Amino acid sequence: MSKLKIEGGIPLRGETELQGSKNAVLPILAASLLAQGPCEIENVPRLSDVRAALEILRHLGCSASMEGRCAAVDTKGLCRWEIPEELMGRMRSSVMFLGAILARMGRVSLTLPGGCELGPRPIDLHLDAMRALGAQVSEEGGRLTLTAEALHGGTVLLRLPSVGATENALIAACLAKGETEIINAAREPEIEDLAAFLTAMGARVSGAGTSRIRVEGAASLHGARHRVIPDRIAAATCLAACAAAGGEVTVKGARQDHLGAFLAVLEKMGVSLEFGADYIRARTPGQLKAPGTVETGPYPAFPTDGQPPLLAACLTAAGETKFVENMFENRFRHVSELMKMGARAQVRGRVCTLRGGALHGAQVEAADLRGGAALAVAALAARGESLIGGLSHIERGYDGLAGVLQDLGARAFEID
Ligand code: EPZ
Repeated sequence: MSKLKIEGGIPLRGETELQGSKNAVLPILAASLLAQGPCEIENVPRLSDVRAALEILRHLGCSASMEGRCAAVDTKGLCRWEIPEELMGRMRSSVMFLGAILARMGRVSLTLPGGCELGPRPIDLHLDAMRALGAQVSEEGGRLTLTAEALHGGTVLLRLPSVGATENALIAACLAKGETEIINAAREPEIEDLAAFLTAMGARVSGAGTSRIRVEGAASLHGARHRVIPDRIAAATCLAACAAAGGEVTVKGARQDHLGAFLAVLEKMGVSLEFGADYIRARTPGQLKAPGTVETGPYPAFPTDGQPPLLAACLTAAGETKFVENMFENRFRHVSELMKMGARAQVRGRVCTLRGGALHGAQVEAADLRGGAALAVAALAARGESLIGGLSHIERGYDGLAGVLQDLGARAFEID
């Protein structure tokens, strides 16, 4: 199994081109099922989750392939409505296909989704949303089956602004007869990007990016071409790397309007930021100050996916930092690995309290996607060499992390 070797303690200097957004392209690939004609999706990151999504599309009978960073999907051969357990288990986002298959085929069958172990990953909100649009839901032996003679518009009231449930409701509503309103919708930029793609396919969507989304269902949708937005969490990871290791980095394609809460914490720590038309530049002059308490929350609050890499960057900041993880129950699994590098931290439930100090290289193992990124960020600040295992978790969401770190001047190499 390959590992990521990082020689830390060297300030970064360089620039990198930001990948397309994993959390935008996955629902967009699912939504391409709604199109009667071919879709071309550009700026697609090369990730194992994307490969899994393309495999699900092919399993359903579609043609789905990647050339460079462009995906082509044609639903001409669409003939299946069930996703086998093996394909479901490979990523959480497979639940994203629920609304699209139901809307196109009138039924869908899948097992409960896999993905990062961040605590229980229920899908009750997804199922309630499908019921609100007229679906019948049944479960037998861990396999869910939803049927709907014809989906009809309705009011989807989300108990929580769930990103995935908002996306499934939005996708299904596009082919439901009549008008749908999604209340307490998630507001992430990835939802706006999904809505832009659906609109390019002929859907009538308004309010995406706000907590109230309205959809006027259509009888059918046509193919479209779309360019995926940049990955704000990959950008946050690069900026956190600069905060941890020091130096100066430029992230081309990063959007200030997607990262407000994250950037505010970096500035509070003493990172100086420069915003260009299509880049963010960070300079970390010397030791940073701890930011105090950082609470994650639904967008536009501080992003839960940015918590692990920023936590790593706080390990060398002067003073005490407290992270309150409000989105997931078990999202501090990286802390025990970081302690092997000398991190002075403790976790109590959803709160992690840490104090800045020196870090040293160690052999560590990633247990989930963003936790793996946190290990890489900490290794850049640690004196000496680190070896990071569990790269399969990192490859789910980062398109060549070693190469990106090398762009930024880090001594980071993938070794067997
Ligand atoms: C999306 O996951 C992202 N994944 C996650 O990114 C991200 O952390 C999360 O949104 C929050 O921003 C993709 O977009 C592919 P949620 P999702 O539904 O949709 C609870 C990464 O690292 N909930 O907004 O699964 C749930 O348990 C990944 O890129 C229910 O209770 O997140 C969680 O506590 C990790 N019932 C909270 O809501 C439901 O039916 C937020 O989950 C659904 C969710």
